[in-house]
This record gives sequence, C-alpha cells and structure tokens, in this order.
Amino acid sequence: MSSKSLIFMMSLLFFAGSTLIAQEYDYIGAAKCKMCHNKAATGQQYKIWSEGPHANAMNTLSGDQAKAIAAERGIADPATDASCIKCHSTAGGTDEAFHAGLKMDEGVSCETCHGPGSGYKSNSIMKSREKSIENGLIIPDENLCRTCHNEESPTFKGFNYEEALKQIAHPNPAAE
Ligand code: HEC
Ligand code: HEC
Ligand code: HEC
Ligand code: HEC
Repeated sequence: MSSKSLIFMMSLLFFAGSTLIAQEYDYIGAAKCKMCHNKAATGQQYKIWSEGPHANAMNTLSGDQAKAIAAERGIADPATDASCIKCHSTAGGTDEAFHAGLKMDEGVSCETCHGPGSGYKSNSIMKSREKSIENGLIIPDENLCRTCHNEESPTFKGFNYEEALKQIAHPNPAAE
C-alpha cells in the first residue's frame, strides 16, 4: 500500500471512531432522571430544573418577544424553527435518531449538560462518579454553557459564568 493510501485509510478509521463515540448513547428524557433525582434529602434537582429557565425555554419561543424576533428574521414559527430550537431544546439541537424518551417540550434538559443518559442511568453505575463518566456522564464547564450563551443568541447581553452557575445551582446537600 502506498503511503498516501495508508494515510487515507487511517483518516477514515479516525472519522469512523469519532462518530461512534458521539453516537454511542441515547437521550432518555428528564422524566427518567426524576425517578432518582427529585428527593429533598439529595437536592431535588428535577424540581429545581423544572422551575428554572432551561426547562421553560420552549415556552419562551411561544411568547410575544420570540414572535417579534422571528418576524424580523422572516421566521414563521420560532417554536418549530431549527434556528431557534437548536438552543432552546435538547431535542431540537440533537439527532432525532438518538431520542429514546426525550421530548421537545422539555426545553434545555438535564442531558444537554450531563450527556445522554442511556449508558449511566442505572443505580449501580451512578453511585460511582468514575463509572458514570466512563458511561457518558458529563460534568459541565463554562465552555459547554457558551455553546448557547453567545452572540448567536438574538437576545444575548453577555454571560457571567459564576453568576449564571449560582442562578441554576442544584447541589446535592448529602454529597461529601
Ligand atoms: C436509578 C437511579 C438514577 C437515575 C435514573 C439517574 N441517576 Fe444520577 N445519580 C444517582 C445516584 C445514586 C447518584 C450518586 C449521588 C446521589 O446519591 O445522588 C447520582 C449522581 C448523579 C450526578 C452527580 C455526579 C457527580 O459525582 O457529581 C449527576 C450529574 C447525575 N446523577 C445526573 C443524572 C441525570 C442527568 C440522569 C438522567 C439522564 C440521572 N442522573 C439518572 C442515581 C440515578
Ligand atoms: C442548549 C443551550 C444551552 C446551554 C448548553 C446552556 N444554556 Fe443556559 N439558557 C439557554 C436558553 C435558551 C436560556 C433562556 C431560557 C428562557 O428564558 O426561555 C437560558 C437561560 C439561562 C439562565 C437564565 C438567565 C438568562 O441569561 O436568561 C441562566 C442563569 C443560564 N441559562 C445558565 C446556564 C449555565 C450556567 C450553563 C452551563 C452550565 C448553561 N446555561 C448552558 C440555553 C442553554
Ligand atoms: C445560540 C443559541 C441560541 C439561539 C440560536 C437562539 N437562542 Fe434565544 N436564547 C438563548 C439564550 C442563551 C438565552 C438566554 C440569555 C440570552 O438572552 O442570551 C435566550 C433567550 C431568549 C429569549 C428571552 C429573552 C429575555 O430577555 O427573556 C427569547 C424571547 C429568545 N431567546 C428567542 C429566540 C428566538 C426567537 C430565536 C430564533 C430566531 C432564538 N432565541 C435563537 C440562546 C439562543
Ligand atoms: C444548564 C446545564 C444543566 C442542566 C440543564 C442540568 N444540570 Fe445538573 N449540574 C450542572 C452543573 C454546572 C453542575 C455542577 C457541576 C460541578 O459540580 O462542577 C450540576 C450538578 C448536578 C448534580 C450533582 C450535584 C452535587 O452537588 O453533587 C446532579 C445530581 C445533577 N446536576 C443532576 C441534574 C438533573 C437530574 C438535571 C435535570 C432534571 C440537571 N442536573 C440539569 C448543570 C446542569
């Protein structure tokens, strides 16, 4: 084999490998996380999220402000347009083929920030942070937030990570 075709083969393998990693897990939906993450003793993350901005991000797209922004851009319905739902909904921003239980109206759901849950959702894996991460759990950082909190957002007014984290905090008081 010539060195040129060897390089070609190697780059094919590289791309096949990276798609595999990106598509290894399915999005199971916030209702599944709720089963274990809604107890007051461990921080009721589901309740806090459901009352916060991210769970309600799809409702915003049906409001008057969203309709006005859409009209300016010639968009008929912001609540179904790809250029809006890609940041306002986990389902709207990811491939439908991997939505095992994820709904559009969940808005920006747990799995946008923590990774699709099909691999880490069982109690035996979740008990260990290390095993969870091996099976797709993400502990988000500022860069992840900035994939949506940036100039491409029509209403962007800047993003202060420390302040933003406080506003969406959902810690587990029982964690050491
Ligand atoms: C079968 C129960 C169960 C389900 C379902 C579940 N978890 Fe967990 N999760 C746990 C347990 C147990 C822990 C360990 C800490 C604790 O007791 O809360 C944990 C820990 C976590 C942590 C903290 C990891 C760390 O070490 O900082 C995150 C984040 C998390 N889960 C997210 C999710 C998300 C998102 C979903 C849904 C896609 C989900 N979990 C579904 C049981 C579950
Ligand atoms: C998938 C896109 C997406 C990601 C990733 C994301 N957000 Fe958001 N966030 C939104 C949208 C959309 C809204 C507006 C919700 C609304 O008002 O309807 C929002 C609103 C907020 C708000 C309410 C205040 C405001 O500016 O309107 C805070 C605070 C926030 N996000 C923090 C964070 C943090 C912290 C992270 C990372 C850990 C993060 N977000 C990641 C899409 C995202
Ligand atoms: C790049 C990601 C992104 C895109 C694309 C996006 N949004 Fe947003 N949207 C956000 C974020 C993040 C917020 C909260 C903070 C901010 O305004 O940047 C938000 C907030 C909003 C708000 C609430 C503003 C407020 O002050 O309460 C409206 C309304 C809105 N978006 C409408 C739209 C419409 C309509 C579209 C499509 C034309 C759209 N967005 C596209 C990320 C996005
Ligand atoms: C906008 C992003 C975002 C969304 C949406 C989100 N989380 Fe988180 N979550 C975070 C961040 C950031 C942390 C703090 C990570 C750290 O400790 O560095 C966190 C921490 C956690 C922890 C660990 C708490 C601790 O103190 O050990 C759990 C459990 C958790 N999230 C579950 C969930 C569940 C369940 C949902 C949906 C119901 C959810 N999260 C939605 C960003 C998010």
